Amino acid sequence: MNKPQPENVLVCIAWPYANSDIHQGNVTGSHLPGDIYARYHRLRGNRVVMVSGSDSHGTPVTVKAEEIGRSTLETYEQYHARFLELFRRLGISYDLFTSTHTENHFRVSQDMFRQLLANGYLYRKVTPQMYSPEAGQFLPDRYVEGTCPNCGYTGARGDQCDNCNTLFESAAELVNPRSKRDNTSLVLRDTEHFFLDLPAIAADSLAEWIHDDKEHWRPQVINFARGFIDGGLIGRAVTRDMDWGIPVPVEGFDNKVLYVWYEAVIGYLSATIEWAQHEGDEDLWRDWWQNPDARTLYFIGKDNTPFHTVFWPAQLLGARGLYSDNPHATLNLPFDVPANEFMNMEGQKISGSRNWGVWMLDALDRFDPDPLRYYLTANMPEARDSDWTWGGFVERNNNELVANWGNLVNRVLSMIRRYFGGVVPEPGELTDADRALLAAVDEGFTTVAAHYDGCKFRAAVQEALRLSTLVNQYLEETGPWATAKTDPQATGRALYVALQAISGLHVLWAPVLPFTSQTVRELLGEDGPLFGELAVREFNEATRSHLALTYDGAMAAGRWERAIIPAGRQLPAPRPLFTKLETAVAEEERGRLGQKPEN
Ligand code: MF3
Ligand code: ZN
Repeated sequence: MNKPQPENVLVCIAWPYANSDIHQGNVTGSHLPGDIYARYHRLRGNRVVMVSGSDSHGTPVTVKAEEIGRSTLETYEQYHARFLELFRRLGISYDLFTSTHTENHFRVSQDMFRQLLANGYLYRKVTPQMYSPEAGQFLPDRYVEGTCPNCGYTGARGDQCDNCNTLFESAAELVNPRSKRDNTSLVLRDTEHFFLDLPAIAADSLAEWIHDDKEHWRPQVINFARGFIDGGLIGRAVTRDMDWGIPVPVEGFDNKVLYVWYEAVIGYLSATIEWAQHEGDEDLWRDWWQNPDARTLYFIGKDNTPFHTVFWPAQLLGARGLYSDNPHATLNLPFDVPANEFMNMEGQKISGSRNWGVWMLDALDRFDPDPLRYYLTANMPEARDSDWTWGGFVERNNNELVANWGNLVNRVLSMIRRYFGGVVPEPGELTDADRALLAAVDEGFTTVAAHYDGCKFRAAVQEALRLSTLVNQYLEETGPWATAKTDPQATGRALYVALQAISGLHVLWAPVLPFTSQTVRELLGEDGPLFGELAVREFNEATRSHLALTYDGAMAAGRWERAIIPAGRQLPAPRPLFTKLETAVAEEERGRLGQKPEN
């Protein structure tokens, strides 16, 4: 049989601001679905590159730095290091998790800027901006507070009203603007900036692209994007009056930087380029960005939707010719943007300041990664907002992971040990029921695959759990423990069949449960790891060094199948995959909420 060519899959995950620790909403919103998708495709033998990094510029980071009394650089480095640690321990398998504060990213962002300029899609405009006479500088919109012209809310931010969600083109639209820093009033002063000519890009190519085949997109995402573009776009400033960030590569723009939202999205491209450099093949990134058959997916939370379905595609289309001999060549546009809704915490919005959330790095001190991953996948906010409850976490851990899947593995392996000294028994001839069970598991390689491939991760988990239940039922029906004395051959056959089913199921689970699936693989006596290893490494560039997470990807090609575990193989001693949690754990965890964390 001819094997299909491996597909090139680029998994892009929203770049977290390096200004706060990562909570369960961030993980279930973007990092985990991206990781599951990447792992699934690696098991299929496809060529996967999964990238992201710390979003290190912009006012979110400078505001935080002021708040904690550290330099902006220190602030970014502090959170960045914690991100790397979290992803390594939670198994978020970034081929490269880097940062926007690298030489490489500066260069690529400036290159794209120059290309947009050369293509005529950037124009200069003098606009009035908020200026603080008190501080003697222009104030970024995020430092401005005032009354919303739309709903009258008095705490509206300069870029957006959190009450009615109106986005402002400029903080000048606010009534009674004042500085968040010192509460002094602000005045308007003229300043020149570059604007991305979105109406021109829409007319030339963006509007056509968004109306191309998007059947596979989530309805809420494609409806939003089409509505937004068809509603008429306006030019958008891509530079800011700030000193923390990437210099504007044009004379006379000395005290200005590229706008954080303009450059952060370029990280997907620059990180792939950086990854190729680390791989020792500078041009390797082109297989994902210039090969039209490659697929690029963006895993993001819904608040990021306009940036990934409208502005970033516009930048890519506008910068046609970038890094190519062909002036018309466009780098690959998003194949899909499976944006997630939000996850709440015990019925309320997650909040850092109120300590209302699950801080994932902290949770990993008390729980194994797979149960956390499992609960976050089973409750992923794919179609609507979902909720994390500690009661739900304990319940699902106990009823689904421990009692269903974990128990299945444990009792089959324990019985093989007890009755056959740990040697896989000879099955003899299989019955119809045996064959039907294995056929059901094999069918899972099609149905579960379709769910993973379609980014329907909740459905994938449900289907894998249903198959696990089927195998448990099979054991109840065949009762190998009851026949052990009277009909050892029947016992051996049932355990052999259940073991083959487990051999299939652990692969179906592997994208969601990579750690325990690897354990199962070892317990089955199978060689070779399912996945590669994650490591934090330090890279040096011309003027700065940075830490990054890397994935050493042993090609997992051919793993997406049910390997036959041969009769006669000696299996290692079984050990449990999951731990039952007392209900008191839920109470204890709820007790931590809303309290100031100890430092
Ligand atoms: N830092 C942004 C946020 O947390 C997301 C940026 S995604 C990127 O909302 F692609 F722009 F980097
Ligand atoms: Zn408002």
